[in-house]
Amino acid sequence: MIYIPAIICLFLAIYRVRRKGSSNLSLPPGPKGLPVLGNLLDLNGSQPWVSFTQWASTRGNIIYCKLFGRQIIVLQSQEVAKALLDHRSSIYSDRPPISTMKAIGSEFNSAQLRYSDEWRLHRRIFHQSFRSEAAKDYLPIQLRKARQMLQGIIETPDRYQRHIELFASSIIMSAVYDYEAQRNDDPLLLTAEKAIKVFLEVASPQTSAILETFPFLLKLPSWFPGANFKRLAVQSQKNATAMVDIPFRYARERVMTATSNPCMISESYKRIETHGNADEFELALKSSSATAFIGMLQFTASTLTVFVLAMMLYPDVQKRAQTEIEAVGGADWLPTFEDRSSLPYVEAVLRETLRWHPVFPLGLPHYTADSDVYNDHYIPKGAIVMANIWAMSQDKVRYPNPNDFKPERFFMANGQLNDDTVEFPFGFGRRVCVGRYFADASLWIAMVSLLATFRFMRPLDSDGKEVDPIFQWSTGLISHPESLPCRVVPRHRDMTADKLADIINLSA
Ligand code: HEM
Repeated sequence: MIYIPAIICLFLAIYRVRRKGSSNLSLPPGPKGLPVLGNLLDLNGSQPWVSFTQWASTRGNIIYCKLFGRQIIVLQSQEVAKALLDHRSSIYSDRPPISTMKAIGSEFNSAQLRYSDEWRLHRRIFHQSFRSEAAKDYLPIQLRKARQMLQGIIETPDRYQRHIELFASSIIMSAVYDYEAQRNDDPLLLTAEKAIKVFLEVASPQTSAILETFPFLLKLPSWFPGANFKRLAVQSQKNATAMVDIPFRYARERVMTATSNPCMISESYKRIETHGNADEFELALKSSSATAFIGMLQFTASTLTVFVLAMMLYPDVQKRAQTEIEAVGGADWLPTFEDRSSLPYVEAVLRETLRWHPVFPLGLPHYTADSDVYNDHYIPKGAIVMANIWAMSQDKVRYPNPNDFKPERFFMANGQLNDDTVEFPFGFGRRVCVGRYFADASLWIAMVSLLATFRFMRPLDSDGKEVDPIFQWSTGLISHPESLPCRVVPRHRDMTADKLADIINLSA
């Protein structure tokens, strides 16, 4: 019995050493975990950002946890994320190694590349096409596609979500590949969408953590019970190859035969001479083009569905935005990008949509290239660092009553918009989203066009009474309403498909 205190002291000493880094500083605070699994059992698998926020509520803005032996640091506030990911970017710009990338066919994905010359080349290609000034070249495509979306919705309002997806994917097909997608069942769009669906399943945080820890699961013969990981991976690889290769071949051929209109691929080919290794350049161009498709379809379409939900739940906000639009251009009028500065309330609706429910709640993981010390916390080399974008959107000091959808929060007392342009949903540091200017313009033109043309109303029950929509939030990396029921009706009774076509033609 007399040994018990000594044994406890020994355990405590071991625990303290394990919680400390190589210096005398402690790791950031976090919940205790189990051997091997770490904090897996404490984690809300479908909404890990909520668990992180709960753990942080009593521990501060930077927390530490472990999943299957991987060290994870979660940054809860914009201030901490900026201090580390922006201001110490030489340490925080890598992405974690993912040994299953090849097996699932995602090694093309620019967003997952390690901090390397290959990543720098991808980033340069993106930057040249999507930086703030260059992104303006795509405004005519975005306007045209927004109007096609309106025409699709007025014809089949029940399929409004599909028309939003088509808006997002057909913009990127035009902007990147100069490919004009068909409105129904376009083969290239279907191939890409299928690839992304399987890819997201296999790349979900849970599945990728399991595969990283037990890579043998990818080697089990397909007849073996429980070998669905391998089946999924094989499927994902096949689809990804089609998604990356087929549209690129189409675009390349048109560039070579000088039949392409300006697009990311044709413009990038003009710069191929300045790059020593043409094969390397073409591979990077092919891969970054496919990555752009993922960014556009997943995040832009999801954000627009969040917007529809907000408009349905907050009819006063919807009405105020529509009144603003009508005051500028009248009833039968569709705004263009030139009208953006005259529509501050619509601007605030866009900001509030990004803030109210960020569709990429944990962004993408960063990875430390070296150890670091921040506010007396030791941050080890080789740790995964996640910015909890969802927690930032819920910051009660910056955004009082964060659950309310309230565009008014972006106005100052003098009626002018404030300078909070809600940038955190696009990430931080050198890995910040490269498509953000392009996404911003796509979101704005879609929102303003939808508001000018339609009303978004709650569904009706069997007695014809309005009820709250019943739907599920998607789980995994991206969070958006799935199959969201909504009554989408033209704002003006006399608005028909033909009349809309006339308005579009007149303003073209
Ligand atoms: C509403 C729309 C979008 C949102 C909310 C969004 C958000 C994000 C976030 C949070 C990241 C991770 C940043 C970080 O690591 O800190 C990211 C990275 C990235 N995004 Fe977006 N994105 C959107 C649209 C797009 C579009 C349209 C494109 C392409 C045209 C795109 C291309 C990329 C790429 C290539 C990366 C990886 C950057 C790198 O690792 O260097 N995104 N995005």
